[in-house]
Amino acid sequence: MLRHAPGVFFAQISLTGRRRLASSVAGTAAKYESQKLKTTTRAATITTTSASANTVAHARTVSAQSGRNLQQKFYENRILDRYTAQEPKKITLRQLVLFGRQLTEDKLVASANYVRSELPVRLAHRISDFQFLPYIAGTNPHLKMVYDLYWRAFDEFRKFAPVKTLDDNRRFCDNVKRNLLEHSQVIPQLGMGVSECADLVAPDEIDRFMNQMLISRISRRTLAEQHIALSEQFDQDLRAHLGLSSAEGFAQMASAPRGFATQRIGIVRADCSVAQVVNDCALHASGLYEESHHLPPGTAPQVIVEGHTDATFMCIPAHFSYIIHELLKNAMSHVMARYATRLDSDASALAGIKSAFGSEPLFPPIRVTICSSHNDIVVRVSDQGGGINPGILPYIWSFTHPLKAKRLHNFHAVNRMEARVDESDSVSPLMSFGFGLPMSNIYAKYWGGSVSVHSLPGYGVDAYVQLPRLGNVVENISARRAQVDSHES
Ligand SMILES: Nc1ncnc2c1ncn2[C@@H]1O[C@H](COP(=O)(O)OP(=O)(O)OP(=O)(O)O)[C@@H](O)[C@H]1O
Ligand SMILES: [Mg+2]
Repeated sequence: MLRHAPGVFFAQISLTGRRRLASSVAGTAAKYESQKLKTTTRAATITTTSASANTVAHARTVSAQSGRNLQQKFYENRILDRYTAQEPKKITLRQLVLFGRQLTEDKLVASANYVRSELPVRLAHRISDFQFLPYIAGTNPHLKMVYDLYWRAFDEFRKFAPVKTLDDNRRFCDNVKRNLLEHSQVIPQLGMGVSECADLVAPDEIDRFMNQMLISRISRRTLAEQHIALSEQFDQDLRAHLGLSSAEGFAQMASAPRGFATQRIGIVRADCSVAQVVNDCALHASGLYEESHHLPPGTAPQVIVEGHTDATFMCIPAHFSYIIHELLKNAMSHVMARYATRLDSDASALAGIKSAFGSEPLFPPIRVTICSSHNDIVVRVSDQGGGINPGILPYIWSFTHPLKAKRLHNFHAVNRMEARVDESDSVSPLMSFGFGLPMSNIYAKYWGGSVSVHSLPGYGVDAYVQLPRLGNVVENISARRAQVDSHES
């Protein structure tokens, strides 16, 4: 649709969108006209961009010729406009936690209907972002694939009948789960799409687009996963209450006995231990690097946790773990690379971290300092890996710098990515996507926090995560494109 019939894609865009698209195409063309692309395909593509006026005129002609299809698309865009006119109804972690107290059938049904009506609104805004992309990016097959996935999900959720019973809710949850699975291709597809468009679209524009896509994706998954977790926990509790095994009793469970309530908080933790998450992530990251370097257990750099080691806070552990794991992976990989010559020793001599160097550890340790204040949790990850290459330092938060875009190209080797700790088992830590820092920052920003990095040239890196402690910050999503900014540190 997008790639093969530009007119059709064009027809899906609202009037304002079309005006802005036309000027965007012209602007992009003027800016990038001078770029000479080497391959024939790219040369052909850029010719299309340079001839922006012709492209727009051609698109309109093709649109006009597409008859019924055009009417259909026009109708679809009217629907999309109705949804983009709505603001998302934002939530806080605290609301999620409070909601699960005294969870009843009525509350679960209300939760299902909130998710059912909220997902299409949030998807509609992102579909609209695609339509505002410069035309040339809209023709990229990977971006088109995500665009189509979003349209399908948007249609499916907006047409889903209101949930009235537990049975309806089970069907709704099945739908949501299927969508979550299907959309696990989105990150690699976006990564490939962006890497292929890096020299065709203004870097700021594509970064804004990626930030917006990814933060909104986290928000939709949070709502979906929270609702699924609550539903599954409620089912379990109800089965236990009725004395039913997991395999039986759907008919009897069509609705809960009146007054049945349970205490559940889904994927959120009200008192997540920071030190516990750091220790778990350290263990996981060490295992990954030891395995990929064929080293005995205990060889990877030691992670020392200090400061307020008894601190707890309200968070979604999956999000917080992702950030800590990425920072630890960065620290470990650079410390190990800096002292790589020490790895040349006979692997058997490396058993135990001290054996090869007498009483000295093989690598300098990574220090993780936890600081808990009334409002915030701050975690500092300090390594002695030599610091960040000054050539790449200005671009570490960007998806589009040529160096970063090249790394995103590695997504061609990955089918699915959900940006979670456990999936890294199937992706070699030696493969660099240039994705860990920007994605960590997006997770932190979503909950009103931030990730920042200070490079100490020739020595190491101090990376900081700051997150609100009390769960009372509303999710940081904006419907409008212009309101999302990229990293400012
Ligand atoms: N602790 C560190 N020490 C030295 N350089 C670092 C450190 N952390 C990040 N960098 C630099 O910043 C770049 C971007 O980091 P980022 O985590 O976003 O991507 P990556 O580690 O290359 O790939 P990915 O995280 O997707 O596996 C890295 O490629 C590296 O050059
Ligand atoms: Mg990384």
